Amino acid sequence: MRFTYVTLFQNLIEGYFQDSILKRAMDKALFDVDFVNPRDYTANKHLKVDDTATGGGAGMVMTPQPLFDALKALKEEGDVHIIFTTPVGKPFRQNDAKRLAKKSRIAFVSGRYEGIDERVIETFADELFSIGDYVLTGGELPSLVMSDAIARNIEGVLGNIESLDTESFETPLLEAPSFSKPALYEGSAVPSEYIKGNHSKIAALKFAMSEAKTKFFRPEQLLKHKKRTSYEK
Ligand code: ADE
Repeated sequence: MRFTYVTLFQNLIEGYFQDSILKRAMDKALFDVDFVNPRDYTANKHLKVDDTATGGGAGMVMTPQPLFDALKALKEEGDVHIIFTTPVGKPFRQNDAKRLAKKSRIAFVSGRYEGIDERVIETFADELFSIGDYVLTGGELPSLVMSDAIARNIEGVLGNIESLDTESFETPLLEAPSFSKPALYEGSAVPSEYIKGNHSKIAALKFAMSEAKTKFFRPEQLLKHKKRTSYEK
């Protein structure tokens, strides 16, 4: 797998891969990253990549020419799945992360300023994703968020593959709380069932805690879970 970041701000992205799990995965050649700067493709003699919005409106819009040329060149290199990051995209979810982990190359196109000329999106986008109902200053963080979620679904990236099956969003229920050592810390104890080690009792307690957490934080997810389990009966 290769992640390609089409961005004016490579520095904002690079640092994330220089430590921890994703660095180790890159050292093991499980995926790699590269960068395309639209400014390298601009025909403008002042190296401009943006202009005022046609028809009015606040702010600058990324013009079509640099991105058209950059993305045409990228597609000539071979198969690539092109994702645009935008607050008006569909919500990015865990099942998207799993599905996209099977691609051979994904390019994330990060908008800046007030966005990207729509003709670029119409011509090149395979998918448009939003990472939440808020507006960021650019697409670099969303690109990183999505690539992190995708990368941990690439085989071998996480040491313990079991951790993928039990985590939140694999089922509608949120994951049960985790505890470490010591059993008692500043007067706060790990639930006693966890310590006693009866696995079926621990599983039952974890399930009850998952349901309670989901009811509190994500009630709509609990409804989904209830619907699913009533179909199974
Ligand atoms: N660009 C700016 N805000 C964004 C968001 N919430 N999701 C994806 N891309 C964005």
